[in-house]
Amino acid sequence: MTSHSRSGPGLLSLLPLLPLAPLAAPLAMLAVGAFVLSGCAAGALSAQEGQRKVAGRVFVVTGASSGFGRGVALKLGGYGGHVVLAARRAAVLEEVAAQVRAAGGQALVVPTDVASPEEMQRLAEAAVARFGRIDAWINNAGVGAIGPFEDVPLEDHARIVDVNLKGVIHGSHVALRQFRRQGHGVLVNLGSVESQVPLPYHASYAATKHAILGLDKALAQELRLSGARDIHVTTVMPWGVDTPFWDHAGNDSGRSPRMVALDGPEQTVDAIVWAAIHPGREMPVGWKARGALLSHQIWPGLAERVAANIAHRAQMEDAPPAGDRPGSLHEPMAEGVGVGGTTRARMEREDAARGGAVEAVRLGAHG
Ligand SMILES: NC(=O)c1ccc[n+]([C@@H]2O[C@H](COP(=O)([O-])OP(=O)(O)OC[C@H]3O[C@@H](n4cnc5c(N)ncnc54)[C@H](OP(=O)(O)O)[C@@H]3O)[C@@H](O)[C@H]2O)c1
Repeated sequence: MTSHSRSGPGLLSLLPLLPLAPLAAPLAMLAVGAFVLSGCAAGALSAQEGQRKVAGRVFVVTGASSGFGRGVALKLGGYGGHVVLAARRAAVLEEVAAQVRAAGGQALVVPTDVASPEEMQRLAEAAVARFGRIDAWINNAGVGAIGPFEDVPLEDHARIVDVNLKGVIHGSHVALRQFRRQGHGVLVNLGSVESQVPLPYHASYAATKHAILGLDKALAQELRLSGARDIHVTTVMPWGVDTPFWDHAGNDSGRSPRMVALDGPEQTVDAIVWAAIHPGREMPVGWKARGALLSHQIWPGLAERVAANIAHRAQMEDAPPAGDRPGSLHEPMAEGVGVGGTTRARMEREDAARGGAVEAVRLGAHG
């Protein structure tokens, strides 16, 4: 984002902490403590640890054709992991599989729609048939729809629930049954900062991400109560990230999709790989996510209002007009196969054009 934007990354990055201002001294200590402690929770594996803890282990990754899932598959492959790749775009998965093998790993492609319980069952069976067990299952596939709740078609809201929530339930069900049989396993589910801080114009997306956090908390207690010490569930919660997600999202906002202060994908890819090896409970990614979640815990109403005001300005006021589209909710799109996306660059171009237009009006008024 450029200096033309009124909601630039610096401002947004501080806003999650604004609610703490009246209680600055004690909360600053709390924030620093939380920052330091949670900063220790996730990181990048060293090459040596990656080889030691990933080589020969079996990982199922849903949503492996682009974004985080593709990045995770490639990283695991580079450490010699056995990676089972699931998504709808079979040809793209074959490309990812070739890269995993070239990097030293083994790969199995299983084209899968996570919304189908039968296909998810087949995914688990294919993984076990090929590699004998599943050490970690990463429910990463997800989609979004942007726009005022009543303008987003009902079938799109329903599809978001089918993919983001039912897909995670399907994956968690088959994974945990397998983990119980083998006596160990790590389940990693992709939440979001929106698992706790919902944004306007993302209503059903935020609802599914809240639900994933609730699901994982309940599962963690079931695992504890049943004495399953070697079976773990972790929720990874990134901030907004520049992946193809923003091109794949349905859009009924009338404006081009935006998110302020987008992170790059590398940190989240590392966090997901880390979570599959060092499971924790909830794993916010990066200091913006940690700050937003902490301020929400302390002052939820104000944190939600501040976040909503920023999101409204970015999405409904600053973004240029754009046509509606269903994105990849119901059918996969050819576009968007990288780990990183093009949204930050597009927003910079849009902001530069808007800055130029404002300047032209200003000069015209003085000319
Ligand atoms: N980017 C962000 O700002 C952000 C922030 C927080 C959390 N997240 C979460 O991170 C996860 C990955 O998203 P991303 O950012 O990497 O976006 P992405 O590049 O769009 O990746 C989404 C992946 O999900 C797959 N997918 C979509 N619908 C599917 C279905 N019905 N069945 C199987 N696979 C399906 C897509 O592949 P096909 O189209 O080939 O099926 C793709 O591989 C999502 O759960 C998202 O909610 C993203």
